[in-house]
Amino acid sequence: MIHIQHQVQLKPFNTLNLDVVASHYIKVQSVNELIEALDYAEQQQLNALILSGGSNMLLPQSLDALVLHIDIQGLEMIDEDSESVKIKVGGGQIWHDFVLMTTQKGWYGLQNLALIPGLVGASPVQNIGAYGVEVGEFIELVHVYDRSEKSVKTISCADCEFAYRHSIFKDEPYRYVITHVTFKLFKTPNLKLSYGDLLKAVGNEQTPENLQKQVIQIRESKLPNPKEYPNVGSFFKNPVISRQDFNQLLTEFPLIPHYPQPHDRVKIAAGWLIDQAGWKGKRLGAVGMFEKQALVLVNYANATLIDVQHTYRHVQSDIQQKFKLRLEPEPVLFGSNGLILSHME
Ligand code: EPU
Repeated sequence: MIHIQHQVQLKPFNTLNLDVVASHYIKVQSVNELIEALDYAEQQQLNALILSGGSNMLLPQSLDALVLHIDIQGLEMIDEDSESVKIKVGGGQIWHDFVLMTTQKGWYGLQNLALIPGLVGASPVQNIGAYGVEVGEFIELVHVYDRSEKSVKTISCADCEFAYRHSIFKDEPYRYVITHVTFKLFKTPNLKLSYGDLLKAVGNEQTPENLQKQVIQIRESKLPNPKEYPNVGSFFKNPVISRQDFNQLLTEFPLIPHYPQPHDRVKIAAGWLIDQAGWKGKRLGAVGMFEKQALVLVNYANATLIDVQHTYRHVQSDIQQKFKLRLEPEPVLFGSNGLILSHME
């Protein structure tokens, strides 16, 4: 039997610490509970909002919806040979704890992704990435409940269509609820050290343990701890533009940090743009861009979604004016009925 709670405060469950009251809320600990809760929402004609670690969401002050807080635990070894392991992990497991555990066991691949906030189940959605690695490279299967077919199924890595901060779960946000993820990790390390100063930080001790340690240190030195400075990580995506548009930009801004992408496109560092526009460490009331990393928006005092929007729209408009570029927010924006809103509105 599921137990629905009413008028639940979601402040502790979203890392931006926004004051959000949900009319209906349930903690979901198994696939059966998930199915029951979705049935309940349908019967009551409520929209269902899937809440994972709450580290990539912008929620309104009042939510008239059923919030399903995914808390599916568990870790199961599916397969092991001399080179690799396949492990199925509950969507409710804390991402960083899972990464630490894999390193300790000698299962390699995820070390560059240490200290990313959030839970395992959300990791495929925007294909979390950091320091030259994206999680999709190590995902074998995503286990889902398909709400349109009303069935449990698995989606292969290829069918997830992973790209920079993107997957099919972004294209069809209401269709799938991720319950578990199966990862394939390797017993022989293959360290990815090409990003920025990582090689220098790792130095001569080129081990997965040291790589993980350095990634943690770099993140801690630049990124605000959500417990101290509530935030959702990078607030904007790094814009990816055509080579032609980039060359034009380069004539005016020759120092712009950039990374070549497939299909003759170029990714530009949004943090640099925001910094150059004078927003690093700048606040508008309760909300500002972090002093050590301009790409991270921080809630400094009890901000609401309105305050957050006030600040980031200002940043967007300054960037538009200075660089003729549109910055797209990374977190997902929700309306008071629990459905996703476009950032363009
Ligand atoms: N920069 C500035 N000023 C700033 C911030 C950055 O000049 O205030 C410059 C840096 O000097 C550097 C460039 O911008 O030349 C890129 O900065 P950084 O290496 O810190 O990475 P990022 O592009 O800002 C991305 C991810 C992060 C990820 C890091 C490391 C996105 C949107 N963000 O940030 O992901 O940790 O690379 O791989 O792709 C997240 O998504 O929440 C996140 C933290």
